[in-house]
Amino acid sequence: MSKKPSKVGGGGKKARGKAIAKAAGKANSKASDRGLKTRVKTAKGRKISSTLWLQRQLNDPYVLRAKKEGRRSRAAFKLIELNEKHNILRPGMRVVDLGCAPGGWCEVATEIMGADEDDPKIVGIDYLEMEQMPGVIFLQKDFNDDDAPDMLIEALGGHKVDLVLSDMAAPTTGHKATDHLRIMALVELASDFAIQILKPEGAFVAKVFQGGTENELLAHLKRHFKSTFHAKPPASRQDSSESYLIAKGFKG
Ligand SMILES: C[S@@+](CC[C@H](N)C(=O)[O-])C[C@H]1O[C@@H](n2cnc3c(N)ncnc32)[C@H](O)[C@@H]1O
Repeated sequence: MSKKPSKVGGGGKKARGKAIAKAAGKANSKASDRGLKTRVKTAKGRKISSTLWLQRQLNDPYVLRAKKEGRRSRAAFKLIELNEKHNILRPGMRVVDLGCAPGGWCEVATEIMGADEDDPKIVGIDYLEMEQMPGVIFLQKDFNDDDAPDMLIEALGGHKVDLVLSDMAAPTTGHKATDHLRIMALVELASDFAIQILKPEGAFVAKVFQGGTENELLAHLKRHFKSTFHAKPPASRQDSSESYLIAKGFKG
């Protein structure tokens, strides 16, 4: 499998995790205990943007909460909040989770739906590795690969699903127009897959970013779902153009 470029600093998630741990170790823990802001000193060889990113991570209440609750990702809270407001997950559902690593959303889904190891109800895909989770079938694969949809369908044992989640974001190149096209292409691919695999009344939730093509996608989804809308959970950073497109009531 080819390694994908990462969004921040070029070091990948593991490297970033190590950097955070190292910086966190160096930071004044007494200050954070007292609720004071943790400052990260610039280190030799570390870019200012990376230092600011680390500082934001260390002071982010959702990062701290994820660590405290032993969650796999900060992203877990986005699904928790989306679900609290829009009733997305219900016990007994079958779910596909596109771009699932490291597994925060899978974990939330199994908490709500119950993890059945004999009949796993969640199938997740990511090109990154993911630690196994009871009740989840994980495929390490690029969703852009031609055979990915068929592999997911096979992993589902041919069952249609109640919900397709996509938290995928295409790796950025720095070229705005290219990035936008790649991001939208991925969302469109996910929505086509959802339309192929959902049961009637099923739902599709996908991360999107602001931009022109979104209107076309929205019009397409409106033809297939009874209601479509955008939601930005509090856990989604305010300075990010990210939001979640929610489509409910698949017309079949
Ligand atoms: C924000 S993370 C998902 C976090 C996850 N929802 C959680 O709670 O742990 C986005 C994931 O999408 C994956 N991804 C992006 N493009 C992908 C693709 N084409 N195929 C498979 N996975 C992809 C990335 O590797 C990354 O792990």
